[in-house]
Amino acid sequence: MAEADAGTGEDAPADNPYVREPDTEFAPVDDLDADAASEQAALLREALRYHDYRYYVRNDPVIGDRAYDQLFSRLEALEDEFDLATDTSPTQRVGAEPLDELASVDHVAPLLSLDSSGDADDVRSFADRVAREADRDDLAFVCEPKFDGLSVAVTYVDGEYEQAATRGDGETGEDVTENVRTIDSVPLQLRGDPPAFLVVRGEVYMPRDAFQAHNRERVERGDDPFANPRNAAAGTLRQLDPSVTAERPLDCFFYDVLAAGEEAVDGVEPSRGGLDVGLDSHWAEHQQLPDWGLKVDREAELVEDIEAAVDYRNRLGERREDLNYEIDGVVVKVDDRQTCLELGTTARHYRWAYAYKFPAREEVTTVADVTVQVGRTGRLTPVALLDPVDVGGVTVSRASLHNRDEIRAMGVGVGDAVRVQRAGDVIPYVAEVVEDRSEGHFEFPESCPRCGSDVEFDGPNAFCTGGLTCPAQLVRSVEYFTDVLDVEGVGEEAAEQFVEAGVVEESVADLYDRSVEDLAELEGWGETSARNLLTELDDARNPPLGEFLAALGIPEVGPTVADDVAREFGTLEAVLDASETDFERVDGVGEVVAGHLAEFFENDRNRDVVARLRDDSRLGEPEPADVEGGGAELEGVTFVFTGSVEGWTRSELQALVERHGASATGSVSGNTDYLVVGESPGQSKRDAADANDVPQVDPGEFFALLEDRGITVEQS
Ligand code: IVH
Repeated sequence: MAEADAGTGEDAPADNPYVREPDTEFAPVDDLDADAASEQAALLREALRYHDYRYYVRNDPVIGDRAYDQLFSRLEALEDEFDLATDTSPTQRVGAEPLDELASVDHVAPLLSLDSSGDADDVRSFADRVAREADRDDLAFVCEPKFDGLSVAVTYVDGEYEQAATRGDGETGEDVTENVRTIDSVPLQLRGDPPAFLVVRGEVYMPRDAFQAHNRERVERGDDPFANPRNAAAGTLRQLDPSVTAERPLDCFFYDVLAAGEEAVDGVEPSRGGLDVGLDSHWAEHQQLPDWGLKVDREAELVEDIEAAVDYRNRLGERREDLNYEIDGVVVKVDDRQTCLELGTTARHYRWAYAYKFPAREEVTTVADVTVQVGRTGRLTPVALLDPVDVGGVTVSRASLHNRDEIRAMGVGVGDAVRVQRAGDVIPYVAEVVEDRSEGHFEFPESCPRCGSDVEFDGPNAFCTGGLTCPAQLVRSVEYFTDVLDVEGVGEEAAEQFVEAGVVEESVADLYDRSVEDLAELEGWGETSARNLLTELDDARNPPLGEFLAALGIPEVGPTVADDVAREFGTLEAVLDASETDFERVDGVGEVVAGHLAEFFENDRNRDVVARLRDDSRLGEPEPADVEGGGAELEGVTFVFTGSVEGWTRSELQALVERHGASATGSVSGNTDYLVVGESPGQSKRDAADANDVPQVDPGEFFALLEDRGITVEQS
């Protein structure tokens, strides 16, 4: 791989200066005439596609992120200035408008499904049947992971991305073109010399690490986490707003050519694959797809016989948890395409392929009881207590029943046999009732099981209206507050005990008022443990403002949002003074969260708790945060940016001024106050600024202007 290490390989486009790490700055955009700009844009697109290919398909990038970003920004600037964007430019992944519904699409060939089993003997019988019907005993097989995602058919015309559709009922799917377009690893233009018409089949999935990070963010925002990566991918792929899809980390593996030829067709035998373009085996397709820029999984193997396929499945099974994507078995496919065509299909399955599944991470067990848990924000979660059962190596005795709507839809009751699933390292959940043995279905309570207050419903979600008068909420809030501030020694049990014994009566602030004697009296406590706890509380004195805000347990305000708020306002005082509109100005805070923040701080009881905590010598004033955003210093000022500013992206700059109350717009007019002119600026914006007498400032002047207004910016 010496060549690749040197920067590029033989696969790099010839005579393209941008396939290497760029070593010079670009000349200003307006030094170019239209022809030169269009030529440079074409080279940049070609180079960026090459870099995407090296990164996503070959997993062996030749330039770093920074250099990539530099090329990308330059292309954006050229396309912007000279109106050069093409549909398949790497810059055109988002931008489509939200839809009212997904249109339906007829598939060129039915997308059939696979016969499957978890039993090796069934797989051997499949191979015997194939050998008999094809009258051959030397058939090789391609083995590959069976991805647990969503099947899609993606169409390329003249090498350009044209359409993506879900499997649907196999004949007709849903048009998800704009959503799949946002998946960075799906090329918008193919490499090499692809056939004029190509439909490939693949699987869209959410990588495991990305799923976990995404779920954490959801929980922090107060949204329900997805149950597993597959659901997350499904919900994301079928989004009506492609900009939402773009924010979520989807990926795609391709595994099959569905149709290929020199012209479009719309009725292809389902087993024809790439035969019409000379791809006479699956393995040949596997080699060809990456050369067209389509990502295939490297785990795939060509094996000589079915015993080797069985062995492949067992080996992969041992590494299942190490892969960054969920798989539920392996797919074994006859390699030779002509044989596949002869074997054909049944109404639902291909006769030449078989899914050899892994043991399921789900089990059937009995519901012993149903309880409702009360969370810190008063949210009620129904939980099934189960006869303990081993689900893929973990003993499960409790499982989530989601919410009232799910319970109703499932019709679950005590005594029912239910199917419990565990997936993607998340809490087990009840997937369905397999046998209804209960006297009656569980009815969601109308009042809080802990304090008797009314239950309020918000869609399928239920909340206790008791606030901190509900002991369950009080317990959780004490537990949560101390956990966020890293106070050791207050778990669920201790928090329960404090509330029960009246050590905590109204809020966590009570705990800070207690003496060693108060705590030492508690059952199982003594002077030492009481002293230890008070020392722990002391150690967490003057917490950073963000941490303090997070610890208050305001709905949808987790650590990230709390830090953003802290950075915007700086001091607790400023937060207490903020209005709903002020909260809305915080980057990362939408209307809903701003509403929660305003509601929390408008409530006198909450203000009282906050005041008691800050006045308490044990907790004290939260440490002010470094203000990145200061609110309204730039109110009424309108900026336009052109060209690049080192260390900043365009949207970071816009967000920066917006955080301080300014507007940032895309074009210069009489209302513009400043045009900030970076490297390689656009001439048309400068001309418009001249025409409208808009002052033009360079980045240095821009940052000085911010400083004059009292805004400190950490330059990256
Ligand atoms: S091959 C043209 N290969 O499994 C052959 N399918 O139960 C089509 N699947 O709907 C099937 N990974 O969504 C094939 N490596 C793989 C697969 C795979 C996942 C899915 C596919 C299909 C389902 C069949």
